[in-house]
Amino acid sequence: TGLKNAFQKEFYIGAAINDKIITGKDKKALEVLKREFNTISPENVMKWEEIHPSPDTFYFDMADKYVALGKKNNMFVIGHTLLWHSQIGPWMNTVNDSATMANYIRDHITTVASRYSGKIDGWDVVNEALNEDGSLRESVFLKVMGERYLEFAFKVAEKADPSAELYYNDYNMWKPKKREGAIRLIENLQKSGAKINGVGMQAHWGLTEPSLEEVENSIVAYAKLGLKVAITELDVTVLPNPWDLEGAEISQNYEESEEMNPYPNALPDSVEVQLAQRYQDIFKLFLKHSDKIDRVTFWGVNDQSSWLNNWPIKNRTNYPLLFDRKFDAKKAYQAVIQIKTDS
Ligand code: G3I
Repeated sequence: TGLKNAFQKEFYIGAAINDKIITGKDKKALEVLKREFNTISPENVMKWEEIHPSPDTFYFDMADKYVALGKKNNMFVIGHTLLWHSQIGPWMNTVNDSATMANYIRDHITTVASRYSGKIDGWDVVNEALNEDGSLRESVFLKVMGERYLEFAFKVAEKADPSAELYYNDYNMWKPKKREGAIRLIENLQKSGAKINGVGMQAHWGLTEPSLEEVENSIVAYAKLGLKVAITELDVTVLPNPWDLEGAEISQNYEESEEMNPYPNALPDSVEVQLAQRYQDIFKLFLKHSDKIDRVTFWGVNDQSSWLNNWPIKNRTNYPLLFDRKFDAKKAYQAVIQIKTDS
């Protein structure tokens, strides 16, 4: 009867959705979405570049449809993302004084967040502000405004939509150094009087990395700050990364090589089983901490639409989610559901 029902006592179960699902063109995906999930995230349609491509132009059409879809189906609707160094309006990269930058940020966040005030349940206010070593990323925001841009963004967001939950969202949040940096960032926000309700741990993971011990350490540490923990952007790649080849002999065309795209037609059973086991272990950990975790969101509905078919190398065949290319539930889906039927 669906993931959302299986885990209804523990956490929301979500998926990021793309244009085709939002407009209803991808009927199968929409059907699966409604049956399995009770929270949605916009994979791309609310990003600055898409919604606000030049200073005086806003395109709300797709974002409006996205929010309407969520409301109509009683879903917990996430906004992603108000401030991210990537995919910003191109003119933002040339702003070089602090007051002008602050005005643009205020204008963007206020216009977008107030349009959906009372309709978006939670906003990823700031996305990916940290380096891997826990220091602040040298984004255009940091360079021009200094650290205060963080507090500024959260305060403007709160004003624009006082009822939405506000999150800080980032990847590799399990890494010890990055965790320390995230804790510093969050504590500084809290000290400044900014409202922050939760932390989003993007979970773009692999079959063996990260260790669940490190993930657990992070879940516990973020919850200690008094925040809700959301597992956002969950997917498990089964493909090799080019940087794993470092030092090995790499042919010039390694991007097209069989080594980099080993399963163009089907995932071998042994890897399917490994993926199912990995997902089961991951969800067992989430269940153990269901008092801290209030949402688990997959970054896509099925394998076909996953960004991981095109990253870090284009045109590969990846298998990172719980539904296959025909929208059938995979072994990994059964393995996740089984935890609940067994308990
Ligand atoms: O829609 C345009 C299309 O009109 C154009 O012809 C085509 C040519 O490049 O690009 C299309 O846009 C692409 C868009 O996805 C929609 O498919 C962009 O190039 C591409 O860069 C974009 O990638 C997205 C990426 O963020 C960058 O915004 C991925 O779909 C999306 O899954 C990914 O999501 C991010 C999260 O927001 C933040 N955390 C990491 C995560 C994965 O990178």
